[in-house]
Amino acid sequence: MLKNSLSLFFLLSLVFVACKHEPFPAPPPGMPNDTTKGKPCDPDTVYYRKYIQPILNTNCAYSGCHDAATASKDVNLSDYEAVISTADVRPFNADGSDIYEVLIETDLDKRMPLGQNQLPQNQIDLIRKWINQGALNLSCDECDTTNLTYANGIKTIFENNCVSCHGSTNPSANLSLTTYEQVRDAILNTNLQARINAEPGVPLMPQGGKMPQCNIDKIETWVANGFPQ
Ligand code: HEC
Repeated sequence: MLKNSLSLFFLLSLVFVACKHEPFPAPPPGMPNDTTKGKPCDPDTVYYRKYIQPILNTNCAYSGCHDAATASKDVNLSDYEAVISTADVRPFNADGSDIYEVLIETDLDKRMPLGQNQLPQNQIDLIRKWINQGALNLSCDECDTTNLTYANGIKTIFENNCVSCHGSTNPSANLSLTTYEQVRDAILNTNLQARINAEPGVPLMPQGGKMPQCNIDKIETWVANGFPQ
């Protein structure tokens, strides 16, 4: 009996040892469901494309190392699917994942990036957190506030949210918001910013409910940049 359970144990350990470096079965792209897509970015979630791929691109996925063409040691770090299928990523288990272990390896002959400085701690932490959150390929709706001008980005916000009442004929509060000058002057001369931010004591605009934060961030950025036309 004892002998039997011992050999069973032995057999089981063999199975475990043999499996240890099998790649974790790759989740289908975007697994389980990219439920965060189109939603605002959550500061506690590590979004692969936003945080992880840029680190890999800068430090690993280049020619001679782990780009798709070289794939040194069969590890290709050039995109999510390749990373999942070649870099021994074990979802929820950073400490058991080679892609994390090699970053903190004390043996410099094994530490990655090979022959370079260790990655900054905040980048190592991000990779760890990404794996421990399930190594998913989540995306979120980033608010792009770069290169905003009235024509590019601002006009449509006012068109979609304000001109139904603040149009060019007979506008509410006698305030038309259909041209660059009108919008700029309204921001300079009325409490427009307080209203769209739902500040206490002023009526909210638009009347139906606060706009998505991204619209407000864009307007604020545009104002701070000096109303580029
Ligand atoms: C459904 C109609 C409606 C929509 C949509 C609307 N407004 Fe208004 N707005 C009004 C009315 C009515 C008033 C006058 C009453 C008041 O002051 O609250 C007003 C007043 C204002 C005022 C005060 C003007 C002043 O002279 O003090 C500002 C600023 C303003 N709106 C900005 C906006 C902006 C910016 C948007 C879009 C983001 C917007 N409104 C969307 C109906 C609307």
